[in-house]
Amino acid sequence: MFFFSKSSSTLGIDIGTSSIKAVQLKKENDKFILESYGLVNVYYPADSAAKIDVVAQTANVLRTLYERSRFSCKRIIMSLPSNLAFVSILNFPPMSEKEIQKSVEYQAKKYIPLPLTDVNLGWQILEEAQPPKTPSKLVTADDLAKMPVLLTAVPKTVINNYVSLAEQAGFEVVALEIESLSLIRSLIGEQDMSSILLVDIGAKSTILSVVHHGYLWATRHLSIGGDTITTSIAHSMGLSFERAEQMKRTSFQEGPASPAFGVTRNVIEIIKQEVQQIIRITENQGKKISKIILTGGGSKLPGLIEEFKNLSPKVETGNPFTQITRNPQVVDHLNDMAPQLAVSVGLAMRAK
Ligand SMILES: Nc1ncnc2c1ncn2[C@@H]1O[C@H](COP(=O)(O)OP(=O)(O)OP(=O)(O)O)[C@@H](O)[C@H]1O
Ligand SMILES: [Mg+2]
Repeated sequence: MFFFSKSSSTLGIDIGTSSIKAVQLKKENDKFILESYGLVNVYYPADSAAKIDVVAQTANVLRTLYERSRFSCKRIIMSLPSNLAFVSILNFPPMSEKEIQKSVEYQAKKYIPLPLTDVNLGWQILEEAQPPKTPSKLVTADDLAKMPVLLTAVPKTVINNYVSLAEQAGFEVVALEIESLSLIRSLIGEQDMSSILLVDIGAKSTILSVVHHGYLWATRHLSIGGDTITTSIAHSMGLSFERAEQMKRTSFQEGPASPAFGVTRNVIEIIKQEVQQIIRITENQGKKISKIILTGGGSKLPGLIEEFKNLSPKVETGNPFTQITRNPQVVDHLNDMAPQLAVSVGLAMRAK
């Protein structure tokens, strides 16, 4: 018997405020294989008087990363930071997709603070109101009475900037996706029927995403992240950013003996309070959060997971590579980088 393998590669690129991450996956007979990956730190001077062309500089970094990591695919999928998108859940009575399309546009005007001509609108019916796929999945009368639809809107100026950056770097953008959606794909999957809170601790921001039945239900953006801790340590102790970063990384392990412990704990405490609040709001809506998944470079802080252990849902660090075949030689290196690569893995997995 002959099997004809169908394979194609996709490169997922996540441009963060502190680093650019890229992952190339090949899909072969419905399985993903890791072909290559790379991460490069970036630094944007806060002083806008420096007048650097951020787009041209980022395009250069992308080109270098492409060559250094030996990627071979020029067709890319890029992430859009969740704070640049408007995300809302709208409830409709059960209706056809054509009717939804019309109603979404009408309803969107109420939720999006920009003219609809200035945004790219996307929508997705959330699963709850659909007929059960299997007899074991029960749908209550309540579920049938409303059809929740996820509405996303991204300003066209944002999309144009990303497309022009990619073109300058020599790529063709096949899709752009809000980063929370990429994280769901790589860390949870659409088959998961529970309610989960994803906590992506980046450099400058932390994104909380409530995921229910594999779909995004709510997001919250906090303007604090790993670099907030580093900058506070640097300022309070008169240290360079690099030295403060080193102190941050050992602060939880050393505990109160570390001069950076208090600052680190204060920032983490703010994130924890927001986590508790979003869990309360979600559970008041009848969705019990079964698990908190930490991701993003900030979640690599040694001892951080223990700080979250006193919250009631169990806490774990997400692994975006569970569904991906990897070369055994890179597994250890990948495990260390995994929290930072979760968005780009999810982007590359989007390929059909
Ligand atoms: N081992 C580590 N221990 C503690 N913090 C770490 C570690 N490794 C990386 N970080 C922190 O992770 C952060 C960068 O994470 P990440 O690459 O996810 O951010 P980003 O995507 O560039 O930022 P953002 O999403 O906010 O734009 C930095 O603040 C860095 O200090
Ligand atoms: Mg990020």
